[in-house]
Amino acid sequence: MTRDAGIEEKYPIEWNTDEALTACVINGDKELLRRAIGNLITNSQTHNPDGCTISVCARKSDTEYKITVEDNGVGVTDEKLEKLRTTPHYMMSDSGTTEPRNGLGLLIVGQIVYAHKGTMSFDHKKQGGFSVTISFPIPKDSQIQ
Ligand SMILES: Nc1ncnc2c1ncn2[C@@H]1O[C@H](COP(=O)(O)OP(=O)(O)O)[C@@H](O)[C@H]1O
Ligand SMILES: [Mg+2]
Repeated sequence: MTRDAGIEEKYPIEWNTDEALTACVINGDKELLRRAIGNLITNSQTHNPDGCTISVCARKSDTEYKITVEDNGVGVTDEKLEKLRTTPHYMMSDSGTTEPRNGLGLLIVGQIVYAHKGTMSFDHKKQGGFSVTISFPIPKDSQIQ
């Protein structure tokens, strides 16, 4: 190929929403939530310069809405995954690392999620790829039909 593939070709996004899910209602700031998910998608792109498939999935448990953004790219080592899980400031540390940084992606995602009383978890798949799930409690008064 003589030209760079377009961003849609290089980073196809699959939206895998549970079919039983009609509407998700949480009390939140739409722009911030959009930014959080955007940051996760941007991470899949910036950490996979050769491209990857990105999957965004929304589902509902009895008590939570869960949104997972994952990719089938290079992923992270077990060691890094452990650091991301246990050391929040690791995400914003800019000393002692030689890796290029693209802003405060996961830290900001975490702040947005916690501001909405949610939680964030990281995982990787055996065959590689990175996965982030953000979960929000279902408000008791939201009975949307
Ligand atoms: N989609 C991903 N694929 C592989 N590694 C990732 C991905 N998202 C995040 N990471 C890892 O988590 C670290 C923290 O992410 P982030 O806070 O967004 O910082 P940055 O993207 O600026 O490096 C990254 O440096 C990278 O090692
Ligand atoms: Mg980032």
